[in-house]
Formats: sequence, structure tokens, C-alpha cells
Amino acid sequence: MAPNLFPSEKSPPLLPVKDIPGNYGTPFFSPIKDRLDYYYFKGHDAFFQSKINLYGSTVFRTNMPPGPFMASNPRVIAVLDANSFPILFDVSKVEKKDVFTGTYMPTTKLTGGYRVCSYLDPSEPAHAKIKQLLFTLLASRKDAVIPAFRSAFADQLFAAVDSKLASSGRADFNAINDEISFDFLGEAYFGARPSKVGAASGLAGKATTWLSLQLAPLASNIVTKYLPWFIEDLLLHTFPIPSFVAKPGYKDLCAYFQSAGTAVFEAAGKLGLSRDEACHNILFATSFNSYGGLKVFFPSLFKYLAASGIELHARLAAEVRAAVAAAGENGRLTLAALEKMELVKSVVYEVLRIDPPVQFQYAHAKQDFVIESHVAAFQVRKGEMLFGYQPFATRDPVVFGPNADKFVPDRFVGDGAKLLRYVWWSNGPETEDPTVGNKQCAGKNFVVLVARLLVAELFLYYDTFTAEVGTSALGAQIFITSVTKAKAKAQL
Ligand code: HEM
Repeated sequence: MAPNLFPSEKSPPLLPVKDIPGNYGTPFFSPIKDRLDYYYFKGHDAFFQSKINLYGSTVFRTNMPPGPFMASNPRVIAVLDANSFPILFDVSKVEKKDVFTGTYMPTTKLTGGYRVCSYLDPSEPAHAKIKQLLFTLLASRKDAVIPAFRSAFADQLFAAVDSKLASSGRADFNAINDEISFDFLGEAYFGARPSKVGAASGLAGKATTWLSLQLAPLASNIVTKYLPWFIEDLLLHTFPIPSFVAKPGYKDLCAYFQSAGTAVFEAAGKLGLSRDEACHNILFATSFNSYGGLKVFFPSLFKYLAASGIELHARLAAEVRAAVAAAGENGRLTLAALEKMELVKSVVYEVLRIDPPVQFQYAHAKQDFVIESHVAAFQVRKGEMLFGYQPFATRDPVVFGPNADKFVPDRFVGDGAKLLRYVWWSNGPETEDPTVGNKQCAGKNFVVLVARLLVAELFLYYDTFTAEVGTSALGAQIFITSVTKAKAKAQL
């Protein structure tokens, strides 16, 4: 039985209260040294692990990148185990204002002058209105998701993979996924494919440029393929890339959302939100939260599926095809069929656990309080910044056992579902739901649904596949190198 790790459900600390180990070093120089260790000399996991080893603690003080000159205050208290991490979800104790991207915040010139929902604390009145608007949008389009997904992924993406493999022996999954998932999102949310609407073309590419400006401080090893690391560090992590670079593309994106979002603007009016604020918010939710999320998460799913090989593929294919035979419609996926796929569901949760697509969460202490690791308690003072590196918290062996570091496809099948309360990719337990009063991802259920659809469509279409896995700026880079089509598809 997994231990109870939720602060609100616990009695006062029994562990001795200790000083938080670690220090911030010399201003300016130590934050830069930490940044270089983090990006270039050690890498993320080794950066945190070396500090855990040094201090003998999973809670410690450190600087977090990007630091100078991008972030005025890089000082955080890191919480890297499953006992201390959930403090980041407790909005009665922590404030989540302007911490979505961490110790720096991109200029609001990139979001029409607004602080969009992701940067708002639930105590700010606009937060509930905008989050409600997104809930209303997602609920109103729930029947559109499966058909939109099928036509984008099953009909287009796999066909594009087949044709790339035939012409060059290798298909760049990330590139194809980017183009198609942006179109899918437009169709699913607004019934209007961005590639088919309006005079402006290449909206997915424009969204990528706009996203890159906001995420550049968190990225590394993009330009080091061509330039020395210190040039990359200067270009990406030292000063913000000027917002005018994304301005023309952002204007085209706005034009698309202005025309596609008519129904949303009506709902926004009823909630007391202006059309303009609603437009910049749905643009952000679609192009940053959703598109940015799928850009990282779908390649990650492929990474673990590719590494697992033919045996898991055969089990998934058998499960998917049996469920579609029992509860599908003309050989196609339905929600009822998807519900029967226990292994598919578990695989999706396991990828989200072992490799959460958003690795970092930040918050400021609203008051003094005590947090606990597994072995000690620590006093946090009002105003201090807390930081969680989620992959360490969701690979904690105290919760997930000695194989916490391993990808176990069946982990959440049957009795294993009890462990879902320790899956935190959405900034909250998988067993809880986003509300207008918390900061849990508004798209939580949508994300799990589309990931299950991707795995199910994949093994409805193919028996198995192989891929080369590398790294991209923000996650995995997948090149599909071979596929075996399902018999029925191969005969088409
Ligand atoms: C917030 C992850 C997709 C909308 C968040 C947060 C995380 C997250 C970790 C909390 C950030 C923080 O405050 O520290 C993801 C991942 C996604 C994804 C990994 C895809 C793989 C989506 C989608 C939507 C969405 C499809 C569509 C509506 C939001 C919004 C917030 C949010 C609006 C802010 C919530 C609030 O202010 O209360 N997401 N998300 N996300 N996400 Fe997602």
C-alpha cells in the first residue's frame, strides 16, 4: 500500500524540523555556473542528483536557470521527492501568480498585452472566468474530438509516415506531428482547420516561432549542433529574444482565432470577458498549452513504445482490435471501445508518470509553513519560491517501488490504478479534476483522451514499428524507420 503523501490529509510533522540545506552562492556568478551545469556540463538529472548527494536531502536551496539577465531572482527551494512535491498543488498555501514558465516570465507583448490564464493565480477574478470559458469550450466540442482525431491522425499522419518511409526510408515523426496536430486542434476546438482557413498559411510554423520565443530560456542543444555552447547560452538564456520576431505570425494567428472562435466569444460575453481577452486566451490555450503540450508528449509516447518493441506492440494491437470488434463502429474507434482498453490506458499514464511533458512547477509561499521530505521537515518562509522537478517526484521509489525508474506498461492495470493519485503531470493528482479554484491543467481529460486515441489508432493501423530516438530542443526526436501494417490495412 502506497504511503499517504498529501499535506492536507496529514497530521502535524513528526519529523525533526531542520534548516534547508544548500545556498545560493555568489550573486550573478553562481546562478550562471548553475545554469551552465544544468544545460551543458551535467544535464538536468545529474544537476539535481549531484545536489541531492551533496546535501543528503531531496529538499535544498539552489538557483534555477535561466538566471541573469533573464530572471531577476533565480533562488528557489527545490522539492524533489513525492512527499514534499504536492505542496505545489495546495493553493491555500502557495501562490501561482506569474510562475507558469518559472523564474522568468515572457513579455505580455507576446499575448496581446494580457496575462493569460496560465499566469493567473486562482485568487485573481479573471482566472475563474477564463478557466470556465475553456471548460465550456471543451465540453461543447466533446463529440468532435474522435472524428477530428481520426481524420487527422489515422487518415493523414499515418499516410504521411508511409509515404516518407517509401520515399526516403525514414519519417520525421516530430515534423509530421507538428503540422497535423495544430490542424487537429483547430478542427477539434472550433471546427475549422487552420491550414484550410483564411489567406494566411503556415499557421503551425508561426505558432512554433511564437512558442520558441517563450520557451527559448528552457531549451538547450538546438544550436550547439552548429555553434559552440557558449554562443547558444548567450543567444537563448541571457536576454529575451525580441518579441517583434513573432509579431507578424501572431497577427495571423489572431486573425484565425477571431474568425474561428465566434461561438467562444458569445460564451465569453456571458462570463463578463471581453472578446479581445477571450481571443488571446483561446490562442494561448490552443497554441501554447495544447499544441506545445502535444509537441512534447506525442514524441515521448513514441519513444517508450519504440523501446518496448514487438511484444508490447502485439499485446496492444490485440487489445485494441478486440475492443473495436466488440464496441467499435464499422471497425472504427468509439469512446465505448476505448474504455475497454486497460493496457492502452496504463501505457499512457506510465509515459506521463515517467516522463511528465512539463517537468517543472513553481510557486511562492503565501505564508510560513513546514514541508516534509521522507526523512526531515523544513521551515519555509512567506515569499520564498518553491520549485519541483517532477520526474524525480513521480519516479520516487517510496511510492513506485524499486522499479520506479523503469517503464512498466502494465503499472496502472487493475489494482495498480490505486497509484494514479501519484501521477501529477497535470499539476495535480490524476484522480482529481481541474476546477476554477485550482491550478490543475484545464485540458487534463482531453490530453489523456487524445493520447489513448493515438495509441489505439496506431495499433489499429500498424502491427508494429521501429524508430530511432534522439533529442529535440524540448524532448524526444523520433524518426520512424519501419512499419508493419495491420493485415486489413495492408490489403487496401
Ligand atoms: C496548466 C500540462 C495540455 C490548458 C497546466 C499545468 C501543467 C500542464 C503542468 C500547470 C502549470 C503550472 O501552473 O505550474 C499540460 C500538458 C499538456 C497540456 C503536459 C499536454 C500534453 C493542455 C490542453 C489545454 C491546457 C490541451 C487546453 C485547454 C491549460 C490551462 C492551464 C494549464 C488553461 C492553466 C490552468 C489554471 O490556470 O488553472 N497544464 N497541459 N493544457 N493547462 Fe495544460
